[in-house]
Amino acid sequence: MENQEQSGKRLVLVPGPFHGHLTPMLQLATVLKSKDFSITIAHTQFNNPDSSAHPDFTFLRIPDGLSEEEVRNPDLIAIMLRLNVNCESSFRECLTQGPDHMEPVDKICCIIYDALVYFSETVARDLKIPSIAMHTSNAATNLVRPILLQLKAQGHIPVPDSMLQTLVPLHQPIRFKDLPLSNFGSLDYFLEAVVLMHKIRSSSAIIFNTIHCLEESPLVRLHQRYQVPIFPIGPLHKFAPTSDVRLLQEDTDCITWLDKQTHNSVIYVSLGSIAKMNQDQLLEMAWGLANSKEPFLWVIRPGSIPDLEWIESMNEEFKECVRDRGCIVKWAPQKKVLAHDAVGGFWSHCGWNSTLESICEGVPMICQPCFGDQKVNARYLTHEWRVGLELEGEIERGTVERAVRTLMKEKEGEEMRQRVLDLKRKVDVSIDDGGSSCHYLSEVVELLRSF
Ligand code: UDX
Repeated sequence: MENQEQSGKRLVLVPGPFHGHLTPMLQLATVLKSKDFSITIAHTQFNNPDSSAHPDFTFLRIPDGLSEEEVRNPDLIAIMLRLNVNCESSFRECLTQGPDHMEPVDKICCIIYDALVYFSETVARDLKIPSIAMHTSNAATNLVRPILLQLKAQGHIPVPDSMLQTLVPLHQPIRFKDLPLSNFGSLDYFLEAVVLMHKIRSSSAIIFNTIHCLEESPLVRLHQRYQVPIFPIGPLHKFAPTSDVRLLQEDTDCITWLDKQTHNSVIYVSLGSIAKMNQDQLLEMAWGLANSKEPFLWVIRPGSIPDLEWIESMNEEFKECVRDRGCIVKWAPQKKVLAHDAVGGFWSHCGWNSTLESICEGVPMICQPCFGDQKVNARYLTHEWRVGLELEGEIERGTVERAVRTLMKEKEGEEMRQRVLDLKRKVDVSIDDGGSSCHYLSEVVELLRSF
C-alpha cells in the first residue's frame, strides 16, 4: 500500500475498474478530501489507477486473481462477475490484516463503492462498517435496468425487430431498442450482474453522478423505489476539475491545433474508452467527415479497431483530403477540448461522463450509442433534452456527412446549441451555493460525518 499522511475521518472508496467508472469515483474522492476526510482508494489490480496523480490519497491494491489471459482479452461482464467473487475475501483481508501502517478497521467511517463492485458492500456489512453505493450512470438507466430480467421472462429480450421502435411501458421516452443491454458475452451473465448490482442490502444511501434539473422524473421514481436516501450530486467533474485518472496518455497538441480554428467550427469525435469499431465503420466515419467539409478533431483509441494497431488502414487519398481540416489523435484532454471556443459539436458514443461533459460546456451532440446505458443517454439527449441528433442504423458516409452538416451549419443544429446552452445554465445553477447538487453534496458530507 502506498501511504500518505492524512487527517480527518477515513473513507475507503472502491471504484469500478474501467475508465468511465474510475473517473467519477476519483472526482468524488477529491471532493471529499476537500471536506477534510482522509481517503483510501481500494482498487483491483486490473486497470489500477495511477497513484502518482493523487498524492493526497492512500492507494490499496486488492489482489483480484485474474489470469493474464483474462486481462489481455477482457470479456467485461465475465471479468466483473469474477472480480466480485475473487475480491470479496482479498478485500476483507486487505482491510483487516493490511500492512502495519493501515489504520484499524474501526477507524474507517464508511466504504463508498461503485455498484459494479458490489463485493465491497458484503465486506462492509461483515466488518460492520457503514457503506454507500455509487452509480456512475444516470437515474433513467438505473430505473429501467432492474426490469430487464422481467422483460426477458416475457420474451421481449432479445428484442424482436417488430418491437424495436415500441416505447417501453412506464419508461418513456425509452424504446425497446434503447434498453441498456450489453454487447459483451452472454445475456444471462449480464442479467445476473445487473440484478446483483442493483441489490441494496445494507448500504445507507445511494449516490448518483447526475443532476436534479436533468432527471427530475426518474429521480422521483428512484426515491420511491429505494428505502434509503438518494443523492444526485453531479456533475462531479465540475466539483473536482483537476482530478485525473491517467489510464491513457493525452495528446495535448490537439489544443494547439484547436487554437488555430474559428469559433464553433470544429466537430469533436470520440467513442469513449471501451467501444470498438470495425474497419468498414472506420472508413465510413472517415469519408463522412471528409465529405462534410467541416473541420474535425477525432480521437481513435489504439486497440479500438480489431486487428489494427491504429489507423494504418487509412489511405493517402483520405489523408490528403483532410490534411488542413482534420486532426486525429489517440487520446485527447476531452474536458479541455469541449470547453474550447473552436468546438461547436460532439459526435459521441454518449457514455454518461461524455454526456455530462458536453452539456456542461453547452456543446450539442451527434449520438452514436454503442451499448448499455449509452442507448438510454442518447435517447434522452435526442428526445427529452433535444440537444442531440440520432445517428441510426449502420454507419454510412452519406448519413454521417448530413448529420455533421446539420449539427454544425443548419438551423436545426443551431436550435440544439441554444437548448444545450440553456441546460448548461441550469446545471451551473445546480452546482452553485444553494443549488440542488450543492445541497445534496452537503447532505452526503453530513451523513458521512455522522458515522
Ligand atoms: C463506460 C460506458 O461506455 C459508459 O456508457 C458508462 O456511462 C461509463 O463507462 P466510457 O466509454 O468510458 O464509459 O465513456 P464515458 O462515460 O463517456 O467516459 C469517458 C471518459 O473518458 C470521459 O470522462 C472523457 O472525458 C474521457 N476521455 C475520452 C478523455 O479524457 N479523452 C478522450 O480522448 C476520450
